[in-house]
Amino acid sequence: MKRQAWGTRLGIIMAVAGSAIGLGNFLRFPVQAASNGGGAFMIPYFISLFLLGIPLMWVEWTLGRYGGGFEHGTAPGIFHTMWQKNRFIKYFGVIGIFGPLVIFIYYTYIESWTLAYSFFALSGRYAGATTQLSMQSFLKGFQGLEHNQYFSNLTPAYIFFIITFLANITVIYYGIKGGIEKLCKVAMPLLFVFGIIIMIRVLALGTPDPTRPTWSLINGLGFLWNPNFSALKSGRVWLAAAGQIFFTLSVGIGVILTYASYLSKGDDVVLSGLSAVSMNEFAEVIIGGSIVIPAAFVFFGPVDIGVIAKSGAFNLGFVTMPLIFEKIIFGAFFGCIWFLLLFLAGITSSVSLAQPAVAFLEDEFNITRAKAVSIFGIATFILCQPAIFLLGKGVVNELDFWGGTFCLVLFATVEIILFAWIFGTEKAWEEIHRGADMSVPKIYKFIIKYVTPLFLLFVLGFWLYQDGMPVILMKNVSASDKPFVFATRLFLTIIFIVLAIMVKIAWRRKRKEVGP
Ligand code: ALA
Repeated sequence: MKRQAWGTRLGIIMAVAGSAIGLGNFLRFPVQAASNGGGAFMIPYFISLFLLGIPLMWVEWTLGRYGGGFEHGTAPGIFHTMWQKNRFIKYFGVIGIFGPLVIFIYYTYIESWTLAYSFFALSGRYAGATTQLSMQSFLKGFQGLEHNQYFSNLTPAYIFFIITFLANITVIYYGIKGGIEKLCKVAMPLLFVFGIIIMIRVLALGTPDPTRPTWSLINGLGFLWNPNFSALKSGRVWLAAAGQIFFTLSVGIGVILTYASYLSKGDDVVLSGLSAVSMNEFAEVIIGGSIVIPAAFVFFGPVDIGVIAKSGAFNLGFVTMPLIFEKIIFGAFFGCIWFLLLFLAGITSSVSLAQPAVAFLEDEFNITRAKAVSIFGIATFILCQPAIFLLGKGVVNELDFWGGTFCLVLFATVEIILFAWIFGTEKAWEEIHRGADMSVPKIYKFIIKYVTPLFLLFVLGFWLYQDGMPVILMKNVSASDKPFVFATRLFLTIIFIVLAIMVKIAWRRKRKEVGP
């Protein structure tokens, strides 16, 4: 069966940028920056970008294109092709299908909230909630965490989830060129237009209340960007910066490998990879850094902003921002485009999270795209249910920890070592530059071989010690949530084992086809 291909170079850049630009850029980044040293956060952030993010982006584009040449679009096949003598390496590659699948099953649900809220903004559905407390009740009612005057059941949330889920499945069904590329070519420019409109609106806020001259936009920008250099002494700040780089660029997940596997052998990866990174950084630092925190400062003041910034990304996006839109003229319009912006950012990321599992079924089991998408659709629809119905029980946090954090760092460590040490730096360097429109600065040969792997091993070790261990030992889980968290771990273990068995079956079948 002939593998799919991208239609245009712009198409794949938009698709990779679409995968990278997500909820992380507009919600996670400002919260991380504000609570980890403000402007000083940008020092470890940019160091991580240059030492982890950009090299890993190039490595993943290169590995994906290399694997695609052998008709493998996912990590088990790509890793096996790079290290044929090792029988086990393909099982490490399972992480590159497992991670995105696990993120997909909760990300799609959160994405559906953004679609719902864009309707609520236009229809005035949340207009009755005018304080942080009442807007929080609105959100909890919508999520089914409490029955209140706003919502008596989960039906509205479930309807929006089904719409979002079907939209994702439809895009994947139409394939790389007809679905994902088409979506990203429309959604990405639109996302930038919406982002810039909202950014300009926020930057024009000035000092809306003359009786409170300190509640100004300039002070709001200062709250986010004034550097607190003493924060640089904290290991946690460095970890937060490295974590943000992984999350925002979608590296270490496995999705870029799959997207790049649809390139041709002579297609450039150096400039294309760098273009996708640049688009992501513009969306994150310039647009993402100018919206939620400065706006919240202007309307809630220097005292409350500290609490708001620490209350997390969901609270900022779904509680604080709707309250702000209620206070500005044409708020319904701005609220609607804010949530549509988040929806576009979300869907262009979630389709990329779905593609590795679909590509795995197509490539390794030789089945049609329609069949692969149907299997994926039915399986993930069932797998999404715990995230929806057990939302308040620690299930989503647990899925996010394993799928969205632990697997990313582990997978990136395995792939960079494989690339630089097993595949070999010389061969790797030649492979990166095949068809390249620019050369990678020579220093990166050294960085990819020594600095990135060491930095990753350090991050992995330090982070396991500091943040990972308490999570693994369920130190911060309440007694009532423990059974649910434990069940989630069991559920994840089963998914991993099923995927590993599928790899085994696929390889055994191939061996039989090829003969001894
Ligand atoms: N890279 C995606 C985001 O930032 C997952 O949300």
